[in-house]
Amino acid sequence: MTWKTVEPRPAAGDSSWFVRDRFGMFIHWGTYACPARHEWVKHRECITDADYDKYFEVFNPDLYDPGEWARAARNAGMKYFVITTKHHEGFCLWNTKQTDYNAANTPYGKDLIGPMVEAFRDEGLRVGFYYSLIDWHHPEFVVEGDPIHPMRNNAEFIEQSARRDMTKYAAYMRAQIEELLTQYGRIDYLFFDFSYPDRGGKLKGHEGWESEKLLELCRKLQPDILVNDRLDLKEQGGWDFITPEQFMSTSWPERDGQPVLWETCQTFSGSWGYHRDESTWKSVTQLLYLLIDTVSKGGNLLLNVGPTARGTFDGRAMSSLAGMGEWMKLHARSIYRCTMAPENVPTPQDCRLTFNPETCRLYVHILNWPIKQLHLPGLAGKVKYIQLLNDASELHFKEPGEGSNHEAGAGEGDIAVSVPVVKPDVAVPVLEVFLKE
Ligand code: GLC
Repeated sequence: MTWKTVEPRPAAGDSSWFVRDRFGMFIHWGTYACPARHEWVKHRECITDADYDKYFEVFNPDLYDPGEWARAARNAGMKYFVITTKHHEGFCLWNTKQTDYNAANTPYGKDLIGPMVEAFRDEGLRVGFYYSLIDWHHPEFVVEGDPIHPMRNNAEFIEQSARRDMTKYAAYMRAQIEELLTQYGRIDYLFFDFSYPDRGGKLKGHEGWESEKLLELCRKLQPDILVNDRLDLKEQGGWDFITPEQFMSTSWPERDGQPVLWETCQTFSGSWGYHRDESTWKSVTQLLYLLIDTVSKGGNLLLNVGPTARGTFDGRAMSSLAGMGEWMKLHARSIYRCTMAPENVPTPQDCRLTFNPETCRLYVHILNWPIKQLHLPGLAGKVKYIQLLNDASELHFKEPGEGSNHEAGAGEGDIAVSVPVVKPDVAVPVLEVFLKE
């Protein structure tokens, strides 16, 4: 039997781990954890540098224990993490030589990145850096014509910044990227964020960032690194994976008619940075759907936590992570190393399929538990064995022509699987189908 799966466009970096691991933790952390009302607070409330400085002056995550974060991520089933080394506010979490606006000069007084990288590596997770191309603190970051800069409506500030020189800012970014990619060992992944030449003019795209040079530097310093698609470089080689954010894709995303590597980043609630009063938190079942649905279309899920200014994951984040971990403990086999099912295997009603090409096993995630029977279309004659994944208990199935099971409107090529009346006690039950090779 041949089971043909979709192969995405090859990446310039090493994508072998990326398509195996499927599930990562995003971490948005910066001085915006202090106002605790969205990482864009400086933009939203048009806060001046002088006023925003108060957060830098009090930032002191005294309870910060990256080992705890790393364990929470590993127990949730996450295999890599991506930390905001610098977000749009411009504050740097590491002890950079390029600016004083960094963690070492806050009351906390130390580099936050080194211990984090080490802790996550110790738990077996791969390391990714997020780096903001936008910088609302840097003295050479051009403000004029930028609709998202916090000082966009401040005529006096814009006039005073008229002589800003974006080439200096681009050099600053390269110097920072050089630090990040040389001081912390192997870095697997880099997430640049983001370009908006359509709204902010060409200085807010590859011309302003000097993206080609930036990317070249990444590839030179870390030849295996995977780089995302927000540098405003559209051509082949200008990115390795695409990053649809905060929505669910209806199919495997393509570029120029070719399926590509992709990862969707998502929040637990509406904000990336810690937001005390935001209450639209997704349920564990919703989060699991997101993960399953993503892998069923050949993608990865990067799920975000916004730690508090004390340096902790709050209770809501911890319980979401624990809930996902409970499911992952029994079902990781349907996620890791899995991808979209072969094209000749149709998706059954109310289900999502994933497939492991190495073991030739198909995973049927049942989003809505059926009454006694589930029809799997297109699999007649192709199945060796079926079990429930959570407890490895056998499920009987009938081929076409093997009795009454095919009265329920099943198609020619279907098999009919008998399932227990009572839904297994897991958020999303999964059938593990051993296909004939
Ligand atoms: C958006 C936001 C940003 C967040 C990012 C994650 O680009 O600007 O706050 O870091 O999404 O992908």
